[in-house]
Amino acid sequence: MLEIGILVSGRGSNLEAILRSIEKGIVKNARVAVVVSNDPSARALRVARRHGIKAVALEGAGDSRDVYGDKLSEVLQRNGVEPGKGLVLLAGFMKILSQSFVDLYEGRMMNIHPALLPAFPGLRAQKQALTHGVKVAGCTVHFVVPEVDAGPIILQKAVPVRDDDDEDSLSARILRQEHRLYPLAVKLFAEGRLRIDGRIVRLQA
Ligand code: GRF
Repeated sequence: MLEIGILVSGRGSNLEAILRSIEKGIVKNARVAVVVSNDPSARALRVARRHGIKAVALEGAGDSRDVYGDKLSEVLQRNGVEPGKGLVLLAGFMKILSQSFVDLYEGRMMNIHPALLPAFPGLRAQKQALTHGVKVAGCTVHFVVPEVDAGPIILQKAVPVRDDDDEDSLSARILRQEHRLYPLAVKLFAEGRLRIDGRIVRLQA
């Protein structure tokens, strides 16, 4: 059984999509052991509890990146999400992780970003895409490396940008695809079908 820890900061819609795909049996041999938020008021914590998942608020506002990373790995390991064995998912998690935390879960930590990376990393990616005038936008699931939004790409999905789009309408179109793409990436990982080969993630049959 793959033990999953999910790190969140806000709304929790990707968290919910992943929980549903496990509940429906689309993702097999995996369970979400714990959800952790740096923001105690995050809706995502309520989403987790509603699904019967342990939800932990870990604020650490005054902590250095290293101290926070140590606290985070302690919570994950206490709940069975072990380095080299478990899976960590960032789902709208707004804190930058320490190098040692990223090293600990190397190759076993994913993130979802609302842009076709390497275009538009960082905050408000959908707004960046609109401002740049791209005609195609989308989302990316990637493995996490210390540099933000820069790790090996697992899956991507493109969506059209319409002339009358604003940040909200484009974000909503991308989000619908995020909710399909992230559970699919988790499923592939749980089935042992992802191989990281340098920057390239190869999908095994
Ligand atoms: C998503 O757009 C995700 O791509 C980005 O943060 C947002 C989180 O939304 N990293 P939610 O909390 O999953 O609803």
